[in-house]
Amino acid sequence: MAKARFTEMFKSIKIGSVELKNRLAMAPVTTNFSTAGYPTEEFIAFLSARARGGVGLLVTPPAVNLFPGSPTHVLFPLLCEKAHLPLWNEVVESIHAFGAKAFGQVLVGGVGRQTAKGTVSKAPSSVPIVRIPPESIPQKSKEYEIRKGLPSLWDRYADLPEPVELTTEEIKWIEDAYAKTARLMKDAGFDGAELHFAHGYLGDNFLSPRTNLRTDAYGGSLENRARIFRNSLVKVRAQVGPDFVVGVRLTGDEHVLGGTTPEDSCKIAEIGQDYGLDYVHLTAGCWEAVKWYVPEEDGTMLPEAQLMKQTLKIPVITPSIHKPENAEKAIKQGKTDMVSLCRPLIADPEWPKKVAAGEEKKIRKCIRCLGCLQRTRRGLGLRCEVNREVGQERYNPEYYRSSAPNWKEYCLPR
Ligand SMILES: Cc1cc2nc3c(=O)[nH]c(=O)nc-3n(C[C@H](O)[C@H](O)[C@H](O)COP(=O)(O)O)c2cc1C
Ligand code: SF4
Repeated sequence: MAKARFTEMFKSIKIGSVELKNRLAMAPVTTNFSTAGYPTEEFIAFLSARARGGVGLLVTPPAVNLFPGSPTHVLFPLLCEKAHLPLWNEVVESIHAFGAKAFGQVLVGGVGRQTAKGTVSKAPSSVPIVRIPPESIPQKSKEYEIRKGLPSLWDRYADLPEPVELTTEEIKWIEDAYAKTARLMKDAGFDGAELHFAHGYLGDNFLSPRTNLRTDAYGGSLENRARIFRNSLVKVRAQVGPDFVVGVRLTGDEHVLGGTTPEDSCKIAEIGQDYGLDYVHLTAGCWEAVKWYVPEEDGTMLPEAQLMKQTLKIPVITPSIHKPENAEKAIKQGKTDMVSLCRPLIADPEWPKKVAAGEEKKIRKCIRCLGCLQRTRRGLGLRCEVNREVGQERYNPEYYRSSAPNWKEYCLPR
């Protein structure tokens, strides 16, 4: 057996009350492996395969609490009532059975500037949604479309109707929704919850001075723009108690003129830290700057991570570092506490195990073609251009190891 070259990434780390066996996380990925609001076996087996591959933490795809009146999307896995608990419990138990911890991403969905064509969405302010600038579209994604003869995905976001401004009552409903779903996550057995405040979704729309032009208590100064985040955090804590891990997915740099800067993002994270936040999971960009959100090279978010590390006491997780040597270096140099892998684990769930065994040459590399995102954004199930097993994991009995000790508790009549 080859000798492992990298050791830093395999050192354990504590986030809040939870001990992780290593510093590698799976970053959340929307898979569309859900039916009628419930995670499917496809969903569970996909995640089990990644847990089996040796990652210490999985941040699961977003569990959605749907804004009232928004068009229900059958592909959203919901978590907003007790009926949703058994399958989420099975998700968690399957991840645990392979020795990884599970944090669930919480998304208040069906609201915010990322809306489907033909629907009018609600957002912090009625700021027009403009066409994604061609220079912001990742080159390899354009090449994918040409290769497949597909119409441009990115043009679908042109000329969407202007969003309608949310009322204060609606904002308070959203804060409560974060808390309700986080509480259900705790009940389902998750080790933590990650509040989604990134990627041009609703939470991010509030934090950004570009998309939040409100003149009430939820807009204006940075403290006001962060109010929904702070209030949600307080409400989440009241529901889950002090020991349950609560983190945030946060845009380190929006990379759009007038958008969230790294300095803003640090201040927002500090507000979170003051209100009991346990970790920050960084990201960057937004739809209008999509090439920063799914970068074409390693380490593009490390400058923001470094700034956060200088400011915060809580751990920072940074994505988009695909090469083992770069992940090791970033952790060793103290630029980030953990590295999260999204596309590398879609392409090869065994990435961590192979690196731990000194067999990094055997890793099936992600080619950053964005076929995965192209499919899910078009309403199709996740697939990968270099890994034919993606979406078929449920046919491999190796990935089924549910122990689900709590399921009876949820299924028996009360
Ligand atoms: C197909 C796809 C779906 C994604 N879905 C989510 C999501 O639901 N929530 C989220 O926070 N990030 C999502 N991301 C972003 C990833 O978590 C990650 O930040 C990004 O892919 C960059 O990391 P990577 O280079 O390791 O893939 C998604 C990315 C891809 C490619
Ligand atoms: S190789 Fe797979 S994981 Fe990587 S970008 Fe292409 S489809 Fe996505």
